[in-house]
Amino acid sequence: MLSTDRYQRTYRSPDRTFGFRMPEPPDTPCLWELARATGLDVNSHYAYAMWSEYFADTSLVVEVVEAVDGDARREGDALAGFVLGFRPPRAADTLFVWQVAVADLWRGHGLATAMIDHLVARAATPYVEATVNPSNTASATLFRGLGRHDPERIEERLAFAEELFPEGHEAEIRFRVHVGARPPDPPAPPRPRQD
Ligand SMILES: CC(C)(COP(=O)(O)OP(=O)(O)OC[C@H]1O[C@@H](n2cnc3c(N)ncnc32)[C@H](O)[C@@H]1OP(=O)(O)O)[C@@H](O)C(=O)NCCC(=O)NCCS
Repeated sequence: MLSTDRYQRTYRSPDRTFGFRMPEPPDTPCLWELARATGLDVNSHYAYAMWSEYFADTSLVVEVVEAVDGDARREGDALAGFVLGFRPPRAADTLFVWQVAVADLWRGHGLATAMIDHLVARAATPYVEATVNPSNTASATLFRGLGRHDPERIEERLAFAEELFPEGHEAEIRFRVHVGARPPDPPAPPRPRQD
């Protein structure tokens, strides 16, 4: 079986196997490079180093792996994908996906969905939030898919208007998606006594 302590899970597409693990500060240059290559807003190397150090529990990186003597080894240096997330301080039931990227070569294999599913299971949060540009169809479909394309599970509202971004940047739409079991209803108030 493909598994080592290095990978928390492996994920297979028809022609490759991917290993999922938490980011670490040495991943910083690869995170920066994949953000640049996939057209995301590129943050400083320092931001990616900080994220790998302080938000690793709610983030993950994906490597292409190959089987060697029943073990899993990394194939190549680049990352196949990453998700950088956090729990908003005022919403402990939510995993906020700050940046998600899959390298061009590996898109369309369900990798982004599998990455976020894995993080949701790890964080045990019933909600996922993210902000998405209106023109980013792939990203909007990804988040709607996490809510099984069920409008009852998906809220889409303006988060940040484009006027906030003087450098020329689209608006950001907040997606709040219910991905897990509904939280239990609050306990019913005590019924008045009949006697
Ligand atoms: C968005 C992104 C992460 C999706 O990665 P991926 O691994 O190809 O996504 P998945 O294979 O898990 O597909 C998820 C859903 O999106 C759909 N999808 C993927 N790419 C699509 C595209 N270009 N156009 C329309 N739908 C698309 C899939 O069909 C799937 O839909 P389903 O749930 O109904 O089956 C990837 O396109 C990417 O890295 N884009 C550049 C960075 C970016 O924009 N990140 C998001 C910023 S918020």
